[in-house]
Parts: sequence; C-alpha cells; structure tokens
Amino acid sequence: MEQQKKSSFSGSIGFVLAAAGSAVGLGNIWRFPNLAAKHGGGLFILVYIALVLLFGFALLMTDIAIGRKTGMNAGNAYGAIHKKWKWVGHLTFVVPAIIMTYYTVIGGWILKYFTEYVTFNGAQVASDGYFGNFTSSTVAPVVFMLIYLAITAIIVYAGVEKGIEKFSKIVMPCLLILIAGIAIYSLTLSYTTESGEIRTGLQGVAVYLVPNFDGLTVGKFFNIMLDAMNQMFYSLSVAMGIMITYGSYVKKDININKSVTQIQIFDTMVAILSGMMIVPAVCVFFGPERMVNEAGAGLMFVTLPKVFENMGFAGNIVAIFFFIMVAFAALTSSVSIMETVVASCMEYFKKTRKQMSLLVAAVAAIGAVLICMGYNVLYFEIALPNGTVGQLLDIADYISNSVIMPLITILTCVLIGWIAKPKWVIDEVQRNGEKFARKGLFIVIIKYVAPVVMTILLLKALGVF
Ligand code: PFF
Repeated sequence: MEQQKKSSFSGSIGFVLAAAGSAVGLGNIWRFPNLAAKHGGGLFILVYIALVLLFGFALLMTDIAIGRKTGMNAGNAYGAIHKKWKWVGHLTFVVPAIIMTYYTVIGGWILKYFTEYVTFNGAQVASDGYFGNFTSSTVAPVVFMLIYLAITAIIVYAGVEKGIEKFSKIVMPCLLILIAGIAIYSLTLSYTTESGEIRTGLQGVAVYLVPNFDGLTVGKFFNIMLDAMNQMFYSLSVAMGIMITYGSYVKKDININKSVTQIQIFDTMVAILSGMMIVPAVCVFFGPERMVNEAGAGLMFVTLPKVFENMGFAGNIVAIFFFIMVAFAALTSSVSIMETVVASCMEYFKKTRKQMSLLVAAVAAIGAVLICMGYNVLYFEIALPNGTVGQLLDIADYISNSVIMPLITILTCVLIGWIAKPKWVIDEVQRNGEKFARKGLFIVIIKYVAPVVMTILLLKALGVF
C-alpha cells in the first residue's frame, strides 16, 4: 500500500463519513427498492431491519475491528489472525472484483438519465419502453458505462479519494433530504386506471410498510431472508474486505461501537427512504401485482421518471439534482470498490498504483461490456434459485452477493467465533474502556446464529432446497 493510504481518518466523523460513503450508494437507492418491490414490500422491510440489527452490527463491528487490530487490508488481515486462513482474505477480493463490473454499468445508466434531464428530455424518459430501448441498444449503454468507469478510474489512479470524501460531507446530507422530499411527494400521487380504479400514494405506502403474510410459504420466506441478507452485506459493504481495509485506517482512540451504529442508521435510513420514494409510486402507476412481477434492475429507472413527470416543470429540475447526487453517491462507492481491487493487485503483482489502476480499469471495462451485452446480443433469461429471472447482470450480482458473501461470512464467523474467539474482537472494541452495549448478543451471533443461518441461506442460494 502506498504511504498516503496508510494515513488514518482525521477523527470519528471522518471515518463514519468515509465508511458511509462506501456503504451508501446504488445498493440503497437502486437495489433495495427493487428487492422490496419484488417481495411485495412490508415483510421484506421488517426482515431487513431485523437482520441489520442482529447480524449487520456484528459483522460490521467484526470487519472494522479486524482492520484496526491488525492494521492490515483484508488480504493480509486474515493471515495475521491465523496463518492458515490467509486464503479467506484472498477470497474477499473476488466480491468487489465482480461487483465492479456491473456497478459501472448502472453508474452509466445514471449518467445517461442525468444527461437526458439536463437537456430537458424528461417526457421522453418517462415514456413507456424508454428504459428497455436504451439498455437493449448496443452503443449508448457502453459509452455511458465507459464514461462512468473512466471517472472512477481517474480518481483511483490519481489517489484523490480523500478529496471526494470531503465533498461527500455536503452531498450525502443533501441527497438524504432530496430523497426524503421525493418520498413525501410520492405519497401525494394518484392515478386512475382505465377501469376507473383510483390508486393513491398512501395505498402504495401501506403496501411498502405493512407486512402482508397472505400466501406466505416457507419457500417464499427463505427467498425473502436470502435477498434481505445479501442486500444487507451489499449495502453495508461487509463480507467483502472493504470495511477491514477502512478499519485499518481508524485511529485507536475512536469508539468503533458508536461509529458502527451511526453508519448503520445512516445507511438504513437512505435505503428505507429510497424505497419510499420508489415503491409506492410503482404501486400507483403499475399496481401492486405488476410491481411484484416486473420488479427488476430497471425499476428505479422506469418509475422515477414518471414521478418527476408528475411534478411538471419542477420535476425536471428535481431530476437533475437527483441524478447528479445519486451519481456522486454511486461514485464514492465504486471508488471504494475499485480502490480495494487496485490495492490488492498492487500487493499481488508488486506494481504501482498507476499501473494497477489501468489494468483493473481495462479488465472492468471488458466485464462491463459483457454485462451491457447481456441486454442485447447476449440476452437470455435464467431462473435463479432466489426466484429472480435474470440476465448477466443478475447472475454476477447473485454469485457475488448470494453465494460468495455468505461463504465469507461463515468462514469469518468460524474464525472469530471459534478459533480466535469473540474476545479477540471485543478487546479491540473496548480497547479504551468503551462500553460494548450488545456484547452478549455479539457472542451468540458470531458463534452460533450467523454460521447456522448463513449455511442454510448458502445452501438455498446454491439451489440445494
Ligand atoms: N455498499 C455499496 C452500495 O450500497 O451501493 C456498494 C458496494 C460498495 C458494494 C463497496 C461493494 C463494495 F465493495
């Protein structure tokens, strides 16, 4: 690692913001509402919050404590805990490497929408079929993806992440306010169908927030658990080495316990509000049944333009701000993804940051072009064990989030719970005499609950049952 990356965050707020910069991104704004809609709303939200409170805090705490205690990135940190476990650190490298390819594709979609709104093309964007036509075209998605990837790569190449993190202090709170504003506006929507039925935003919010147990089967519940769990990993950037690396920059006098709570609250708030901005609107414009059947990668890109159109001229202005801020939130995440991959490659190949940034960007570009082609030349439909019918993007997402992340989590829990022992983490959290409020819960989760639940979910993800 280069000297500058060894420097630590300036303080607790600096760390929380940087970690939140990695955590808050397309996972919250694009992925969470999509999954909430797919599972019909309320119950998914409930399960998600329960998982964040139970598992999220334990896993985030573990990652950050491993990083700070060893002072190393994931690749080496696992080896420092136990020599024979170094390979798990290498395994964590695979997750951001896969995510990077499709994250840049969606980043490109965001840029495309931004340019459409800047040129006041909102009506066209809101028209039926726009998103499908765009993603299935061969050139435009690739061009926008390459622009997005280039911006990410330049930041990593120049090593100026700290610069954009400072900027995120302003953008993140603004984004949160804007999302909350659009969410509130969504509640005022109403739509009259051809048969004269009136669907309102308030009905939509009820679907989004109130759990519905009708027709729930054990199989469906497992699918919800699986998606909620992989969403939690994804959204908090845990089980992929990133928070270990961030933890290694955290100063020894910072209260990790408090920071973890703050990161979780911020990340979950952005996700739930993003869902509130999108899911009720989907119910209004498309109805609850189509919402469940057609939820997919394009949900936000199909629904939000309709909300903006509904706002009239102001909608175009709101959309410009929205897409630029989302682009920024996505950028802070994709920079953290690429940074992790580049840092590991620098160690593996003993080359400079600049050389590795170019190499990683080139490989990412190839992967991302393939993902783009998944919507045209390489289009196919495959049914995944979690009930999604997907394309290449969904497969990449599934492998990294539903298979590899649970596997890393099981291994981490075994290592910390049974080999190094939970005290190894607890001592680090309490190193300055801080109070570890949920210590008992932490031990039970790391030793027993997480490994068992995660093994069941991994088997489910692999289609074993
Ligand atoms: N947590 C980020 C989000 O929710 O958008 C996504 C992410 C960041 C995924 C970093 C992977 C990663 F390595």
